[in-house]
Amino acid sequence: MDSILVTGNGPLNGQIPIAGAKNACLTLMPATLLSEEPLTLTNAPRLSDIKTMTLLLQSLGAEVSALQDGKVLAMSSHDLTSHTADYDIVRKMRASNLVLGPMLARLGHAVVSLPGGCAIGARPMDLHIEALEALGAEIELRDGYLHAKAPGGLKGAVHEMRFASVGATENMVMAATLAKGTTVLKNAAREPEIVDLVRCLRAMGAQIAGEGTPTIEIQGVDRLHGATHQVVTDRIELGTYMLAPAICGGEVELLGGRLDLIGAFVEKLDAAGIDVAETDKGLKVSRRNGRVSAVDVTTEPFPGFPTDLQAQMMALLCTAEGTSVLEEKIFENRFMHAPELTRMGARIEVHGGTATVRGVERLKGAPVMATDLRASVSLILAGLAAEGETLVSRVYHLDRGYEHVVQKLEAVGAKIERIKG
Ligand code: EPZ
Repeated sequence: MDSILVTGNGPLNGQIPIAGAKNACLTLMPATLLSEEPLTLTNAPRLSDIKTMTLLLQSLGAEVSALQDGKVLAMSSHDLTSHTADYDIVRKMRASNLVLGPMLARLGHAVVSLPGGCAIGARPMDLHIEALEALGAEIELRDGYLHAKAPGGLKGAVHEMRFASVGATENMVMAATLAKGTTVLKNAAREPEIVDLVRCLRAMGAQIAGEGTPTIEIQGVDRLHGATHQVVTDRIELGTYMLAPAICGGEVELLGGRLDLIGAFVEKLDAAGIDVAETDKGLKVSRRNGRVSAVDVTTEPFPGFPTDLQAQMMALLCTAEGTSVLEEKIFENRFMHAPELTRMGARIEVHGGTATVRGVERLKGAPVMATDLRASVSLILAGLAAEGETLVSRVYHLDRGYEHVVQKLEAVGAKIERIKG
């Protein structure tokens, strides 16, 4: 297994290009199942999760070709041969459950393995099931698989979600595009990845309004046609790299960065003493004073502070002046990075969903272990600012969500290398 060796090397300066969004691409790719005509995605990120989704779609009979060094995904679901998403693929990546809604809508039946356990929380699918049952689907769990059918086709309905789940919103919106009549989804998730999905579905001929608000209205149509869609910028990759000059000093421009994707995060950076300015190519980030100030953070659904930036923010706050309190409200077990940061000299106390971080002058390099995608990159950020060397093992977690992390950080002056396992 590969590792990444990071040596604290002072301020960072230069430019980092931001890729297309993993979490948008993972819901856009299953949208191909809704139509017989080709769907092409441009600005696609090159990540192992995208490869897993490709394998899943191909296992259903879809054609998926990665062109232009993987930045373009040409897909066609003209001749689907299976309606079963196998456990062997689904257990590798939970987002595989996003084929459930589209298959049910297009084929009238679908069999999708339940994903099983996850490091950051239980992550059940009850909200997905409730949403699709509201559209008239009959769903039962058998041998670890959800067996879903809609013999007479799905029917539009008014449905209020108990929690604004991203995945359940995506599954329901995709399914409702081909349902008979009108669907009104209340308490819908508002994440930019959902706005991007709706833009793509609209380009395929869907009739949808209200994306980005708590109420989404979908007028079902008989069929969807082909389209080409550019994947939105990855706001989590963006936020992650904005924290590099924040934690090390210097000035970095994030190419393709957009403020509207990360509002609540930028407010917290500002409170911590980090300057963020718009440029004609993206966003420029620099630290105002010598040391960042402590801030309190609570994770929330969009437009609140994203849970996918909590670990990275904790790395920054480990070196802040004062004490910060981080509350994780989305996932019940998302502080696995805290004991690893403590190995680097951080002072963190975790009680349930609350972590109290008392800032230290400087972290010290140490061998640490990645436990999940966002935890792994928080250890790399900490290593960039630490004294000496930090060896981060199990970086396969990182490959799921960050392309070319070593090259991107090296380009702004980081001392970082990948060690083949
Ligand atoms: C998406 O996961 C993202 N993944 C996650 O990013 C992200 O952390 C999450 O949204 C929240 O922003 C993708 O888009 C592929 P949810 P998703 O359904 O859709 C509970 C990363 O690092 N819940 O909004 O699975 C659930 O357990 C990943 O890139 C139910 O209880 O998130 C969780 O506590 C990690 N029942 C909360 O809701 C359900 O049926 C939020 O989950 C569904 C969810």
